[in-house]
Amino acid sequence: MQGQIVPGSLVQMTIRLEPDALLLVLGPRPVRDVGRWLHDGLRAAVVDGRLEAGTVLPSGRDAAAALGVSRGTVTTVVDVLVGEGLLVSRPRSGVVVAALPAPPSGRGATAPPAPPGAVSVGTPDPALFPRAAWARAVREGVRGLGDGDLGYPDPQGLRVLREALAVHLRRARGAHVTADDVVVVSGVAQALSLLARLLAEGRIAGARPAEPVRVAVEDPSSRGALGLLHDAGLRTVGVPVDADGLRADLLPDDARAVLVTPAHQFPLGVVLGPARRRSLLAWAAAGDRLVLEDDYDAELRYDRRPVASVQALDAERVVLLGSVSKLLSPALRLGWVVAPPRVVGPLVRAKRHADLGTSVPEQAALAALLASGAYQRHLRRARLVYRQRRRALLDALARALPGVEVGGVAAGLHLVVPLPGPAAERAAVQGLRAAGVPAEALSGTGVDRAEAGVVVGTARVREADVARVVAVLRAAALTGNQELVR
Ligand SMILES: Cc1ncc(COP(=O)(O)O)c(C=O)c1O
Repeated sequence: MQGQIVPGSLVQMTIRLEPDALLLVLGPRPVRDVGRWLHDGLRAAVVDGRLEAGTVLPSGRDAAAALGVSRGTVTTVVDVLVGEGLLVSRPRSGVVVAALPAPPSGRGATAPPAPPGAVSVGTPDPALFPRAAWARAVREGVRGLGDGDLGYPDPQGLRVLREALAVHLRRARGAHVTADDVVVVSGVAQALSLLARLLAEGRIAGARPAEPVRVAVEDPSSRGALGLLHDAGLRTVGVPVDADGLRADLLPDDARAVLVTPAHQFPLGVVLGPARRRSLLAWAAAGDRLVLEDDYDAELRYDRRPVASVQALDAERVVLLGSVSKLLSPALRLGWVVAPPRVVGPLVRAKRHADLGTSVPEQAALAALLASGAYQRHLRRARLVYRQRRRALLDALARALPGVEVGGVAAGLHLVVPLPGPAAERAAVQGLRAAGVPAEALSGTGVDRAEAGVVVGTARVREADVARVVAVLRAAALTGNQELVR
């Protein structure tokens, strides 16, 4: 958020909030009930730490002019917040944000994790969900089910869906796969949890070595994925990522597997290069290790056909994981694993123990969506929309922040904007979330290294939102530059 840092005393600097930055904190002004909007918005920003203790608010007159409200409204709201202990009125310095006795986590070095219920950065635009096509697919799918399909499901997955997925993954991802190699799961998250447990127990990827089992991960990585591996008792080892993806030459000898996002690295957005793919597979072959290929958003490539999966090169050592979460909706909780027979067996048993199988009507619907061509039609449409949104945002960013290089290929539902430091990162994450745009601190995705930047969810950023998003990022970059000067 935009704030000007001015000298306060020799040991402490004072942050003054610019009047215009108030709008970034509060969001769009409603037509009615502006007093409540101002009160609730300021209150929330103080409580969740977006307005740091000691920040000096603009004068009543400046605030009223910037917000388009009367001075009386500002004075009343400030008085109420002073009464609530959230603001303090100081005779000479004006109104400042009070230091709360128990600050929420997230006021430290990194931006706070997304609050519960917050939209994660890779979530698709729900407005694009093909409701009519899905409703038709449910009808068709359910009509095609026999009585035998309406008991407990086959824990490996409904045969008709596994067949449809095998056709689709052969065509779209070059995968070596038949229906027997597919296990239907409730998303990549469940696949990772189950596979992590099997790895930790030494039931796949060789006999159980010295505890705990180590698994290599990309640095940076998806925080959620790391959490799932740790919950299963695995120890993760970070391996750096550069412009060509995972530094496969640095994979550790003592790891039994690696989790990797070759088609579109999360979060940096780079593609695993051909030489790296070969060296990754050589590492796996040398130690009878497994490669867990998280193919989470591979179909959403905008400039060319997606590169084939790594599984296409070695179906014996690569386990391919995917889901409909990025293209359709994470609400469906539908995904797949393509694995060699030595993994399929234990995985199906683990799936049975976990939940007795995935909902059959949902599986039947996805099978019908794939078989009717509606999945492909939706994919073409979604690619077009997301590509335009990404382009518009990138063009505006290039104009507003000419020195800043947004890396990664034209793909997926997020992008990374590098920032000068932790204060800029906090400001960007908080400002974007306040504006309703999913955002995550890049430093929070680091395993051993913590680069500052913001991972921005681009799926819902329409043309009309671009200016606002760019303003937040520009203001954040400014905060960071001031921090550097300080
Ligand atoms: C890197 C990565 N992999 C996988 C997933 C998808 O998980 P699921 O298929 O369980 O929704 C996500 C979701 O955000 C992700 O960021």
